[in-house]
Amino acid sequence: MNESEYRKIKFTINKHLDLNLEFYKSNQMMRRLGGFTSRVGATSIDEFCGLIASDAKVREMLMDFLTINVTEFFRDKRHFDALRSKVLPEILQKNPRPRIWSAGSSKGAEAYSVAMMIEEIAPGTKARIFGTDIDARMIALARAGGPYPDAEAKNITESLRRKFMEQRDGGYFVVPEIRSKVVFKEQNLLTDEFDRNFDLIMCRNVVIYFSDAAKLELNNKFSKSLKPGGILFIGGTETILNPQDVGFERDGAAFYRKENTPGRIRQAA
Ligand SMILES: C[S@@+](CC[C@H](N)C(=O)[O-])C[C@H]1O[C@@H](n2cnc3c(N)ncnc32)[C@H](O)[C@@H]1O
Repeated sequence: MNESEYRKIKFTINKHLDLNLEFYKSNQMMRRLGGFTSRVGATSIDEFCGLIASDAKVREMLMDFLTINVTEFFRDKRHFDALRSKVLPEILQKNPRPRIWSAGSSKGAEAYSVAMMIEEIAPGTKARIFGTDIDARMIALARAGGPYPDAEAKNITESLRRKFMEQRDGGYFVVPEIRSKVVFKEQNLLTDEFDRNFDLIMCRNVVIYFSDAAKLELNNKFSKSLKPGGILFIGGTETILNPQDVGFERDGAAFYRKENTPGRIRQAA
């Protein structure tokens, strides 16, 4: 695929999927889209763009392909253990009604993991937990509380599973008691406004294909959305380069703390 073909695909995807690929690493995206074009049987970029415009199934497959919805409960167990033993107790001590956001929540497994964990360590806590994702189909599954296949539920301990999951219709569902603790809504992290005053933001395994400029801008926005001292929890294989540029200091693997003196936050280029 050459630059002008990529420009044409970007334009078509922006128009029909409302997804702006300018925010993504172009080399990787061109390579991935090349593979996807053959997968849907298109023999030219014009044919591919025509399919995007005319075929809802291709649009759905393309959205799945671009957003990658893979998720599971308590993903990166080691980091969830740190969340349970250190991060959440500290947050709950400072604020008995913490505001928590799973940004790029997919089907909701991450947001529900935290809801279960809080109910386990501090039963009755009235945390306000939010999950957002660009993919409307994932938001619908998250709101329904499932179904989650075995592979996505494998890290849920036996005791949490007994209390907070039910098995039916070929999958696991989150019980209404936990479902009612999380509010899900559609949101594009790259273009939409963010809420503020969060104690904890989780943005994990979402930014892999974002360009460096998009990641910087996003981390800047997360920093502004956290309370001073609030925590950003990222994916097990991710790091933030120069966290101090966006007002964070590293606080253990996968955790970054917003500095208490937010005056240091710089604008993204
Ligand atoms: C690989 S899943 C990660 C889910 C969960 N955070 C986890 O770690 O298990 C990435 C999710 O990010 C969402 N996503 C990708 N780009 C996004 C954007 N610009 N705004 C909001 N969500 C986005 C995708 O739709 C997908 O559901």
